[in-house]
Parts: sequence; structure tokens; C-alpha cells
Amino acid sequence: MVRVAMSVNGEKVVAEVEPRTQLADFLRGDLHLTGTHLGCEQGVCGACTVMVDGKMQRSCITFASDCEGAEITTIEGFDDDPTMGELREAFSECHALQCGFCTPGMLTTARDIVLRLGDIPETRIREELSGNICRCTGYVGIVEAVKRVSAGKTANASAASARVISRKLDSGRPLPDAKSRQVTKSVSAADTPAAGQIEGGVSIEERIRVGATPAQVWAILSDLQRVVPCVPGAEITTLEGENLAGKVKIALGPIKASFSGQASVGMDDGKREGWMTGKGRDSGLGSSAEGAARWKVIDGANGDSIVAVTLTWKLSGALAQFNRAGLVQDIVRRLAATFAANLEATITGAAPAAKPGAALGGFGLVWAVIKSKFWRSPKD
Ligand code: FES
Ligand code: FES
Repeated sequence: MVRVAMSVNGEKVVAEVEPRTQLADFLRGDLHLTGTHLGCEQGVCGACTVMVDGKMQRSCITFASDCEGAEITTIEGFDDDPTMGELREAFSECHALQCGFCTPGMLTTARDIVLRLGDIPETRIREELSGNICRCTGYVGIVEAVKRVSAGKTANASAASARVISRKLDSGRPLPDAKSRQVTKSVSAADTPAAGQIEGGVSIEERIRVGATPAQVWAILSDLQRVVPCVPGAEITTLEGENLAGKVKIALGPIKASFSGQASVGMDDGKREGWMTGKGRDSGLGSSAEGAARWKVIDGANGDSIVAVTLTWKLSGALAQFNRAGLVQDIVRRLAATFAANLEATITGAAPAAKPGAALGGFGLVWAVIKSKFWRSPKD
């Protein structure tokens, strides 16, 4: 891992990244700045264009680790930029977008063209925009929009490369306090003493309703030998006091991994809450995982309970793509539903929803996620 410090949209960001992490993945996956789009991922389409130290750059072919000390502005950082405001209006009036996938990159490039070159002929606008590909709208509306905004403007190269934050100062508005944002999404150490911090980790919070009283639910959740088999794919191999060793099997389409690792666990019976931190490795794929979990049982007020769970993880190696929270969030939601059904079955003595030890994320689960995200029936 490499430690990197940069400024993103005026905020100071400090993070640990894999040397191979691309800036686009870091912006989208770690900082959740998903306005930066990924199309070709090889520097051709321009969908991922961001401003790095005043210059347009493809974030899909820029290593995050090379951005030490850089000032980066993504489409989100141009919210209050006057030229961007004019361009947004012109794009809308000229019908310069349909699906909008290319639009963040188009707007970022268009802003640079207008400020750097001023009023230029259409042929030059087309030439300057040739590094940005639109797959559905066609270029007539886009070029028209840029032409409209550039009309009557004079070239101002220094404005084009100026940090957006300085533009705010120039226009008389106060410079926002530089916020320091540590890219650590984790269970708070204060709330969960043993959970600790996972630098660069991704967190998901989930609330699971279980049809049993808090006392019944806690009786299972505080007994690791009974609760771990409720987690799809998880299995305990040894348990001594607060330390356990175990395995987690994952099967996501063609990707199959079996992590072995150690974890330490803590419980507070009075508050009905627990926490766990652990590390594991899959020797087959060469992936490693670090994770923390915190759970708390809350009275659901209808004779049922709510289990509030916070999961934080960081994957490296072949499975690092699953650090993208958007995709994993859907998988975790479905896993949580299976976990809740298994928990209820354990309490009531019914058959579990998933066979204990069955791999986490079987084909059906992944297909359900893909279907809900991408598939539309012809009637939709
Ligand atoms: S995604 Fe970066 S240029 Fe296409
Ligand atoms: S608006 Fe759809 S790709 Fe450009």
C-alpha cells in the first residue's frame, strides 16, 4: 500500500492505496464521487476526464499514487463554477445529452475549451472535443452548446487552469475551511473498542428485522457457534475465548475464493452489542481481506427485533473490484436477508434459508443483483 495525500474538490484527502489503483477507481470507490464515469478504461472515450493541477486528465489511466500533492477537481467540484453553470444550461437547451453517460467528461472538457480558447470556430470546437466520445446523442447538440457559451468570450488560460476554489475567492466568496478527510470508513473506535480502523476500507450499514424478541435474538447472536453458521459461506474452525479462526467461502460467478483467517470478538451483554475484527487470505487467488463488524440488537416494538449491523472491509488482490461499494451494497442487502432468515430459523428450529457452509454469493444471488441493476423486461 502507498500513502497518498491530495486535494479533491478543495478537501484534503489522505489515503492508503494499492500502487495499481487508478485515480477514477479511487474517486468513485473510495470517495464515492461517482460523477466521474468509466467507459473504455483505456484512455480513449474521455468519460473519466477530471482536472488535475489545472489540466484535463484521464483518471482511468492515472495512478492515484502518482497524485501525491495534486489538486483534483471532479464534476462535483464545479457545482458553483459560473462557466460550468452556463454550459449546463446550454447542454440542456441544445439537447446535448440523452443518457448522460459521457456528459461529466464532456462538460469538464467543454469548460476547459471555453476558458482556454474563448470564442473559436466550430471546426476548432470539434477538434478540441474529439477526445470525448458520445455514443448516443451525436455531436450536433454538444458542439452547438459549446459554441453558444464560447461566443463573445476571450481566451483566459489562467482561468482555465485555476483551481475552482480560487475562482470562489476571486468572486468575493469566502474560501471554505479546508476540511481534512481521512479516507477511513470504519466502525468508530469509540463505539467499538476492538473494531479499530481500517484505512481505505468501505463500510455498509444494514438494519435487519428479525421476527423474534431482542432476548431471543441476542441469545443466538452472543453464541458464536450458533450465529456464524447463519452467515452464508462462514464457518468456525477453532474458538478459544475471544479469538476465533475460521473460513469464508465466496463464489461470485466464475470467481471462487476461500478465505482462512483469524478474528477477535467482543460482546457487551448489557447493551446487546458485539464487535469483531479479522484478517484473512485466499491462497488460490492471492487476495487478502481485512474486516470489522459491529452489531446491536434493538427492540422492534412489535414483538420483533432490529439488528443494526455495520460492516467494514478492504479487499486486495484479484477481488479488489468488490471494494466498489455500489455493487457490494446490493450483494450485502441480499446476504443480510438470508442471514435474517437463517437467524429466525435457528430461533424457531425451522429449516435454514441457505445450507450452512454454502458459499457466500452463489450464482442465484449474483444473478439477482445483476438482474435488478441492469435487466429491464421488454415491457418496461
Ligand atoms: S474511461 Fe477513461 S478515457 Fe474512457
Ligand atoms: S449522452 Fe449518452 S453517451 Fe453521450
